[in-house]
Amino acid sequence: MAIRNIRLMGDPILEKTCKEVKEMTPRTRELIDDMIDTMYDANGVGLAAPQVGVLKRIVVIDVTGEDLIVLVNPRIMETSGEQTGGEGCLSLPGKSGTVTRPNYVKVKAYDRDMQPIEVEGTELLARAICHEVDHLDGHMYVEKVEGELTDVAEEEYEEEYE
Ligand code: NI
Repeated sequence: MAIRNIRLMGDPILEKTCKEVKEMTPRTRELIDDMIDTMYDANGVGLAAPQVGVLKRIVVIDVTGEDLIVLVNPRIMETSGEQTGGEGCLSLPGKSGTVTRPNYVKVKAYDRDMQPIEVEGTELLARAICHEVDHLDGHMYVEKVEGELTDVAEEEYEEEYE
């Protein structure tokens, strides 16, 4: 188990576009394992590779604590509906903001064995997928926040950080 350092907003690596994973290597497997450990350690519901300083198109998500999803090279194929709600990010601890996202998302990706997978999500899962895929293109949720960012007490946000 290895916890990696989470990069904070302002770090230029969070503004870069990540590269596709061409093949699964032991090093990339280790990255994925570390991302999972780091996400759970930080009580996050999602984490993208650039948040641990690696410019690869990989995200890990678990919105319930029991449904781990690893997405390699995710591509959002379909969205529908709309949801508006609070959102936070492990790269901007202590803050939250209101963001409107699709309420349904279908994503194509590869799993950690580079087998093609398709994942559909609604509500928090749809929000998390959009939030994490944005990270892979150098975008933070703060760009989409409606109104002001607010300070949040740790116990309130810790299950919704991405
Ligand atoms: Ni985030």
